[in-house]
Amino acid sequence: MFSASARPQLRIRARRALVLTTAGVLGAAGVLSLAGTANAASTLGASAAAKGRYFGAAVAANHLGEAQYASTLDTEFNSVTPENEMKWDAVEPTRNSFNYGSADQIVSHAQGKGMKVRGHTLVWHSQLPGWVGGLAAADLRSAMNNHITQVMTHYKGKIYAWDVVNEAFQDGSSGARLSSPFQDKLGNGFIEEAFRTARAADSGAKLCYNDYNTDGQNAKSNAVYNMVKDFKQRGVPIDCVGFQSHFNSNSPVPGDYQANLQRFADLGVYVQITELDIEGSGSAQATSYGKVVNACLAVSRCTGITVWGIPDKYSWRSSGTPLLFDDNYNKKPAYDAVLSALGGTSGGGGGGGATCAATYTRTSTWNGGFNGQVTVKAGSSAISSWTVPVTVTSPQKVSATWNGSPTWDSSGNVMTMKPNGNASLAAGASTTFGFTVTTNGNTNAPTVGGCTAS
Ligand code: XIL
Repeated sequence: MFSASARPQLRIRARRALVLTTAGVLGAAGVLSLAGTANAASTLGASAAAKGRYFGAAVAANHLGEAQYASTLDTEFNSVTPENEMKWDAVEPTRNSFNYGSADQIVSHAQGKGMKVRGHTLVWHSQLPGWVGGLAAADLRSAMNNHITQVMTHYKGKIYAWDVVNEAFQDGSSGARLSSPFQDKLGNGFIEEAFRTARAADSGAKLCYNDYNTDGQNAKSNAVYNMVKDFKQRGVPIDCVGFQSHFNSNSPVPGDYQANLQRFADLGVYVQITELDIEGSGSAQATSYGKVVNACLAVSRCTGITVWGIPDKYSWRSSGTPLLFDDNYNKKPAYDAVLSALGGTSGGGGGGGATCAATYTRTSTWNGGFNGQVTVKAGSSAISSWTVPVTVTSPQKVSATWNGSPTWDSSGNVMTMKPNGNASLAAGASTTFGFTVTTNGNTNAPTVGGCTAS
């Protein structure tokens, strides 16, 4: 650990899916008044989805049983990162004996709610069981590759992106590698080896390098940049760079944050904000959060943002109240700033506008497929119609739909669902539609975007 000052810090190919509809042709009454105002989404996840991004939270398995924790997670977020449950000490405390219980709990919760999962992390010097550091080079190499292969195979098809290597560079001006068992015994090549092993284990997951104090341009981020550039030039498999983004007054959001994200993106990798938390309170904290969200939205290859926890009380640095929800799960000014930067609107449809919310649940699973159900609920005013986008991950296919009428985008992965027949809902009333996904080996949950009412 470190002192606060040292470290304040997707789709179906266009082949048409077989679609079963209860009414193949809409009658005159069913012609949708899509010209109505598109209503902004009112949660972090749905607002981010409307901008083509995810909005995630680090989650601890031992809090999932707390009703308010789970309902805040399920309402607001569409991606999760296990905070500690996938780290080496949790997953392989003893050589070749793997423990997936807590991590599986998070992954199945996420899949049941349509959330993405970021895997964190495979190779890191911290939270590393003692036995690893005791191995000599050849043995360490095979232990590292075995760990990556076993863990990624266990979660194959379920992880959107993996932090393959975490925090391998030193802070300060040296730009040098950080001492660790991997660095000290295997040399600089361990990172490349880890990424190659990772690609072989699950070619469907995006492979990220993740670090802190790399959020602006400095000696450390330059060193990471040069590594990523070299990897891209030599064909070493890397897809993304994670910027942890732990900020406080000693280490505020850098002025060149967006420019730094952009220069990495220009290397041809995706960028993600992976562990965002900003110590502080009130409008100062809110302003900083807004800057981070705006920076990500301004970089087209920035695919999403994860905050490092849900309520302040469970933050790893709770005394700095760095998160979006207070200890009682009230939304803080920082929450409002994030929602508004994402283009969402707070207040559940005030002002008399027509709004609706969409929530996803997996209703059944079998070998090779699952059924999903989306509940569409009208806000505080009656609505005359609605649409909800649902995105699946290639090579998945939607093989059937019911209680709705889908249209497909050109990629074939995004289905926009509209109602069949009478589409109106009274204030607060709800309806559901459903669909079957053929997984073709990928069991990722679909992304359900914001509901648009008219
Ligand atoms: C932190 C967790 O939040 C704590 O619960 C744990 O005690 C220590 O690790 N960089 C990372 C994360 O990549 O894994 C760390 O998470 C925070 C810093």
